[in-house]
Amino acid sequence: MTGITARVPAKLNLQLAVGPPRADGYHELVTVFHAVSLFDQVTVEPAERDAVTVTGEGAGRVPAGQDNLALRAVMALRAAVRDGGTGTPDVRITISKRIPVAAGLAGGSADAAAALVACNELWAAGLTQQQLCEVGATVGSDVAFALLGGTAVGRGRGEQLTPALVPATQYHWVLAFADGQLATPEVYATLDRLRTQREPDPPGEINLDAALMSALRAGDAARVGSRLSNDLQPAAVSLFPALRKTLAAGLELGALGALVAGSGPTCVFLTASAERALDLAVAMSGAGVCRSVARVTGPAPGAAVISAQT
Ligand code: C5P
Repeated sequence: MTGITARVPAKLNLQLAVGPPRADGYHELVTVFHAVSLFDQVTVEPAERDAVTVTGEGAGRVPAGQDNLALRAVMALRAAVRDGGTGTPDVRITISKRIPVAAGLAGGSADAAAALVACNELWAAGLTQQQLCEVGATVGSDVAFALLGGTAVGRGRGEQLTPALVPATQYHWVLAFADGQLATPEVYATLDRLRTQREPDPPGEINLDAALMSALRAGDAARVGSRLSNDLQPAAVSLFPALRKTLAAGLELGALGALVAGSGPTCVFLTASAERALDLAVAMSGAGVCRSVARVTGPAPGAAVISAQT
């Protein structure tokens, strides 16, 4: 086998509840992950030494060296396979990006997940999805979910996952990409600062939103739209004030709900149907409140091999 290609989805957080900072610098989360049909592709091929090439959306902003999450995932998998390295030859990793970089959609974690799935196949390493999730969690908080896909509740740093028992309802989303990026650590740090300014007491216990889960179980898009929530949103908006206008425009144009994706700056809008999504996407493009728009559906499957060349 000479090349394995895996496809991996972007993620949204339908709820993102953030606790106080932990001793390790991370924040305790309760989140509802939802994978959507915006996919990156990652190809791995045997090579003389490990290397990364990135093409597509925002490629120039993806690190191609040791900081690249897909490369780090490959090295972590090699260490986990523990066979002395004989069965885990070096690879050329080619990342074809459609998920924008530093946009709150976990594109870097997605590429790491795809690299894990592809190398597991190339090396015939035989790790289970659960084992790949454990390896992935050492690389990034969202890698495990990118492997799982669908809709799932995440706890801890986001790496402790429980698939949500929800019907196969398809949701129609419009993503509004911003003209700029936000760095995740800065958004978390800003939330901590805003909280100490506004709430002298530390945030209380964080809980899964029962009303959101009930709306998802009922497959009721209008109710899901009304329960979208993101504790990072005030921090993202304070760092990127133009997002306020983007969110307001989507709601005025009829979205069932709106929120910032993860740590931003992408804005996410839920609509009632494919037709409504098309109408909203066209109107958002015309409103001049974002760089570009995309229509996606969710839930989407997690990282999976889509082709193997021999
Ligand atoms: O795990 P990952 O590398 O994706 O996280 C990026 C950064 O986001 C972390 O370094 C941390 O600053 C912040 N983060 C956090 N709490 C989480 C997840 C991420 O503070 N649960």
